Amino acid sequence: MNALLLAGGLGTRLRPLTEHLPKPMALVANRPWLEHLIVHLKQQGIADFVIAVKHYPEIIQNHFGTGEKWGVRIRYTFEKALLGTAGAIKNAEPFLDDRFLVVNADIVHEAEMIPLLEFHNQHGGAVTIGLTTVDDPSHYGVVELDSQGEILRFVEKPRPGEAPSNLINAGIYVMDKRVLRHIPKQREVSIERETFPLLIERSEGVFGKTISGYWMDMGTKERYRQIHWDLLNRAYRLPHLGHQNENGIWVGQNCDIDSGVLFIPPVLIGDNVKIGERSVIGPFSVIGNDCVIGKQVRCTETIMWDRCYAHSGVVLNNCIFGYDLEIGAKHILHEAVMSRAEVMQA
Ligand code: GTP
Repeated sequence: MNALLLAGGLGTRLRPLTEHLPKPMALVANRPWLEHLIVHLKQQGIADFVIAVKHYPEIIQNHFGTGEKWGVRIRYTFEKALLGTAGAIKNAEPFLDDRFLVVNADIVHEAEMIPLLEFHNQHGGAVTIGLTTVDDPSHYGVVELDSQGEILRFVEKPRPGEAPSNLINAGIYVMDKRVLRHIPKQREVSIERETFPLLIERSEGVFGKTISGYWMDMGTKERYRQIHWDLLNRAYRLPHLGHQNENGIWVGQNCDIDSGVLFIPPVLIGDNVKIGERSVIGPFSVIGNDCVIGKQVRCTETIMWDRCYAHSGVVLNNCIFGYDLEIGAKHILHEAVMSRAEVMQA
């Protein structure tokens, strides 16, 4: 069973971080999420991937190549125009096994694929949709299931009290290739809005199976932040976070941290980071690899990607900075979300 990772969307809601970056390449704990995802799936025995790229495809291709470094095979499919979540699957048809996995590459999760596959094999449907529970389903497509786990209908964005369940589509599917007969070629098609309802109408067998563990769609800035706070709080665990010291701080390798720096946990510091005297970092901050933080910087609830430079006296609160940002001395930034190299002079 190979896996198709959908990674071609524009990520408009996560701009400006995704202005020049595919959303699945956004850093999560200082690594592109797509890398965590491939490692997570590889641990479950999936070693053959197809990545459906469109927005800045070369960034994904240059990072992963043939997948050799991760011990997996990676091939790519390309779209001239956006084909949507189902159109991208149809476009990958020549690469897909008779039974395959589809994963939205912007979903941060720790779902196990084997129970999903076993359920699919037992029930004989055309598709098994991984489902997750949310407290407030009013922003999502909610499913109504029968007692066998077959999906009877989807209710889009139900009003309070009108949701048939609080189970939503988790963006992870096991599919049989016969599904592709129902997806038109070379036009934008949405799997959620068009293909799944059509399959239900034609009684092809659309089943739902609840996945376990952490699940969060990184589509918005709020949720992107929340993923990091959940990681720092250990509500979600990633295997690559490294060593957390007795004070609740993760510090990477080759860091040069002045003895007068105060960390307020939880804080995650990448590799090769320099932090100057009397700076206060945390609570809830993630500093990327090769960042430089000057003296007397105050940094709370902030996520900084690799190679950022915060000059002395800077105050940062609840910010997200993309790669290579330079923040001029004594700037005070609250809730700033910025990307691309930018020098702000004092
Ligand atoms: P927004 O523009 O913020 O809505 O984000 P998005 O369209 O990138 O993501 P959305 O949540 O709508 O899509 C779910 C997943 O499918 C993401 O991993 C996207 O990268 C991917 N995706 C969405 N549309 C396409 C498409 O047309 N082609 C491909 N290959 N992938 C897509």
